Amino acid sequence: AKPMLAATPPMGWNSWNWFAGKVTQDDVKQAADLVVSTGMRDAGYVYINIDDTWQGKRDASGVLHPNEKFPDMKGLADYVHSKGLKLGIYSSPGDLTCAKFEGSLGHEQQDADLYASWGIDYLKYDLCGFRTKLDAEAPGDKLKQNVMMRDAYVKMHQALLKTGRPIVYSLCQYGFDSVWQWGPEVGGNLWRTTGDVRDNFPSIALIAETNVGLGKYAGPGHWNDPDMLEVGNGKLTMDENRTHMGMWAMLAAPLLAGNNLTKLTPEVTGVLTNREVVAIDQDSLGKQAERVYQEGPVQIWSRPLADGGRALAVINFGEDTTFLRGIPLHLKEAGVTSGMKARDVWAAKDLGAIKDDYKVALKRHEMLLLRFSK
Ligand code: GLA
Repeated sequence: AKPMLAATPPMGWNSWNWFAGKVTQDDVKQAADLVVSTGMRDAGYVYINIDDTWQGKRDASGVLHPNEKFPDMKGLADYVHSKGLKLGIYSSPGDLTCAKFEGSLGHEQQDADLYASWGIDYLKYDLCGFRTKLDAEAPGDKLKQNVMMRDAYVKMHQALLKTGRPIVYSLCQYGFDSVWQWGPEVGGNLWRTTGDVRDNFPSIALIAETNVGLGKYAGPGHWNDPDMLEVGNGKLTMDENRTHMGMWAMLAAPLLAGNNLTKLTPEVTGVLTNREVVAIDQDSLGKQAERVYQEGPVQIWSRPLADGGRALAVINFGEDTTFLRGIPLHLKEAGVTSGMKARDVWAAKDLGAIKDDYKVALKRHEMLLLRFSK
């Protein structure tokens, strides 16, 4: 049997959040270089994903060509592969993408074959332009629109399978219906659960909130995608960077750094490459955290781990700048059994056996991340 695609949440880098429409082949090459030199590759970040705006026009036989920003896609893929990395690309089931570049409508197999011929390893398929078609052909008919949309996603999945190349299939579809309920059926390895992440803390908090109750839909090969990491894009404080990263690890989220790697500081790199946090994200059990407790600004999330232990995150989402003290850990609700020993992951400190009254003092937007082991 072939190895499962995305057996753990995919990790890598994506061009959109930082470069958006300006991304060039050289930016992507440089990202590959930096993912290696910063140690991110060795921490698990292997997909280098080109997002929207690489597409040019189709020729007379319908073959799509990259635009002038990407003169040599095959060469780029070879370069990325030579570094022990993988290359991802972006399209839409519509005639146009979100940024109004050429989509794959009516050319699904041709495009899948093209990606495979270049050596593409990952496709983000963004509903966007297909919405126009849904509204034109089934105005107001949600049921029919759902069927059409699923068919469109299945079509590309079949096309990818037919190439024989393992290509991770990332569905970018949100705000339409509950994609987590049908994502696996259409072959999705991951699907977006929310709108676009922004480089600010309320966006991170909103995405966490939207993921409450979605844990049961995620597992090896098929993940909820709360969108890219904004870690290192400049607007988040270090506490917020850690909370963002830690929350995504709790959510078994794909870890795609959507940042400018030329601006990484050692401190931010340390957050992204923290081995213990990445290990929680990549835990082979593949169980996404659920929120087990909430009171005021405090939330506690918990996820079971393959070794029989638990990861537990206590987060202060509040705006008050004074410390929050005396937060009970609610260990029982969190599934922590007696005899488990705790480690403070961000502090890299063993705490031994702790009780509910373990003295937590959290700053504004700070996360305490505990790993409990038997
Ligand atoms: C949508 C997606 C983004 C990005 C852009 C590109 O907004 O959600 O992640 O891919 O399209 O146009």
